Amino acid sequence: MTTTIKTAADIEGMRLACRLASEVLDYLTPHIKPGITTDAIDKLAHDYIVNVQQAIPAPLNYAPSGYTPYPKSICTSVNHQVCHGIPNDRPLKNGDIVNCDVTVIKNGWHGDTSRMFVVGDGSIAAKRLCTLTYDAMWHGIAKVRPGARLGDIGHAIQTFVENNGFSVVREFCGHGIGQRFHEEPQVLHYGRPGTLQELSAGMTFTIEPMVNAGRREIKQLGDGWTVVTKDHSLSAQWEHTVLVTETGYEVLTVSAGSPPPPAFVGA
Ligand code: MF3
Ligand code: CO
Ligand code: CO
Repeated sequence: MTTTIKTAADIEGMRLACRLASEVLDYLTPHIKPGITTDAIDKLAHDYIVNVQQAIPAPLNYAPSGYTPYPKSICTSVNHQVCHGIPNDRPLKNGDIVNCDVTVIKNGWHGDTSRMFVVGDGSIAAKRLCTLTYDAMWHGIAKVRPGARLGDIGHAIQTFVENNGFSVVREFCGHGIGQRFHEEPQVLHYGRPGTLQELSAGMTFTIEPMVNAGRREIKQLGDGWTVVTKDHSLSAQWEHTVLVTETGYEVLTVSAGSPPPPAFVGA
């Protein structure tokens, strides 16, 4: 498979799916408080996607080769969980951090986005990790334009994260997205400027860095999905789906509740 270039009509389909994914996160936001279980968050998201948006939660039964079918409608990754956390019946507690990763399919198009939530009053360290990871994602997004290369994105993210004393997970990356959940290219969150594939207008892909407060090594849990930090340090992730435009980029996973871009963007 090669990277797909989206037509104007395809991009309309992507805009809708991506806005809906972001609106699921808006809908979840007031519910993410101490005492709620990640199962309850999953059910809220599932019912909203299916009944209100008349869309499909892409993770449910998603089974890439080598994986068992994913059993829930969203991913919820708490504290030292890096990604692909499976919702369960454990209540969130004050000070937890949780990533909610939502992917919807609408009219055959996928929109994929995630945000971090601090449950109740987070520690300074937890809030700093979440903010730094958000800024890291935007350092990558800001590189997107025709003629730039994937290595420019990875390098921007990696240098920002490592200059601040945190580490970038290597084993998982962003991805092309469209009529399939995971398309080419792979969008690494580390790398060297001027390397890898050149970007062209009409490409759509995600940027979704996972940043650890400690070392970058991870391990997979026995459930076949959940990924955690080997040293049990906290981990954070943010994700947007972006379009390469003629002049730069358009973030597709936006809605009324999207956090604004950091001040350095566009400066
Ligand atoms: N949403 C994740 C991503 O950003 C993929 C989750 S796969 C699942 O690529 F099956 F766990 F949902
Ligand atoms: Co993704
Ligand atoms: Co995702």
